[in-house]
Amino acid sequence: MNVGGKTYQTIWMEGSSVMMIHQNLLPFVFSIHECKTHWDTCMAITEMIVRGAGAIGAAAGFAMAQAYLSAPEEDMEDYIREARKDIESTRPTAKNLFYAVERVFEAGKLSRINAVTEAQRVALKDTEDSRNIGRFGSALMGKRTNILTHCNAGWLAFVDYGTALSPIYTARNEGKEVFVYVDETRPRGQGARLTAWELHNEKIPHLIIPDNAAAGLMASGKIDMVIVGADRIAQNGDVANKIGTLDRAIIAHFYGIPFYVAAPLTTFDAKCRNGKDILIEHRNPEEVLYQEGLDANGNLVRVLVCSPGSDAYNPAFDVTPAKLITGIITEKGIVKAQYQTIKKLLTNA
Ligand code: MRU
Repeated sequence: MNVGGKTYQTIWMEGSSVMMIHQNLLPFVFSIHECKTHWDTCMAITEMIVRGAGAIGAAAGFAMAQAYLSAPEEDMEDYIREARKDIESTRPTAKNLFYAVERVFEAGKLSRINAVTEAQRVALKDTEDSRNIGRFGSALMGKRTNILTHCNAGWLAFVDYGTALSPIYTARNEGKEVFVYVDETRPRGQGARLTAWELHNEKIPHLIIPDNAAAGLMASGKIDMVIVGADRIAQNGDVANKIGTLDRAIIAHFYGIPFYVAAPLTTFDAKCRNGKDILIEHRNPEEVLYQEGLDANGNLVRVLVCSPGSDAYNPAFDVTPAKLITGIITEKGIVKAQYQTIKKLLTNA
């Protein structure tokens, strides 16, 4: 993506450092965060300096490679196992994180440099998958399409392009007219802060909407299709994605609006039979109770926006049942969210 005339990826490795766009400061400040050790990279994932299924997958792969680079010769095996445990306990829901760790962990058994090469391959594959998802998703759109999206499954959530937003970028590049309604996505506001920032940079017309405006928009015929990302997809097609996705799917189903999930095959989990097997991350209630923004002097401040003394419930994801999903846009094409189709796809992957 182009930021101020320069092309960026969300995350990359430079020597033994992992470099990433600092997503907690966006859209107010654009800065690059450096993680010198695998512990720094773990912290960046937990704190959501880097976030989004594909981006944390790449981060986790790079962290595993960093661990190989810094492991002492005499104690290598224990050090690497400990590092793997640390990386895997950063965030539990996105499948890409575990997929990337496994690949780099195995590759590093050959040599340290092989671990780095494998981590780079994981990141490159994420970029290619996202680009192909864009091609397949764009084919679903006519000359003019109004799309609703939730959270951020764009360039910032992956190494590049994204999943739910990739078809939108491709459609625009193909000369189609697209208009995007962006759910603000409380509590952390990934829609209002990140998706809106991306679309603004790309000059794609859009409006940020409060999360509770989606039903009214769908009822009044303003939405042609919904596209969201995914953090983990079970064998039967149930999809875990950012909290609030389920509401959108139910509403879209009620009004007969196509509801698409865009995700690479690395997000499918052959070990989860259905959505009940997916572990849902619960985050700090303070994310609900406080909001961040710029004050009149341009300083980033955090303010309490709820009744003092009340606690909050903060699940980060929910599960949308397969029957509410029109199709899953993958890098291999659009597939039905159903057991037989997914099984065949994963067997041939
Ligand atoms: O908690 P986040 O911001 O890491 O959430 C993950 C997501 O980005 C969304 O659920 C997204 O829609 C999935 S695709 C990256």
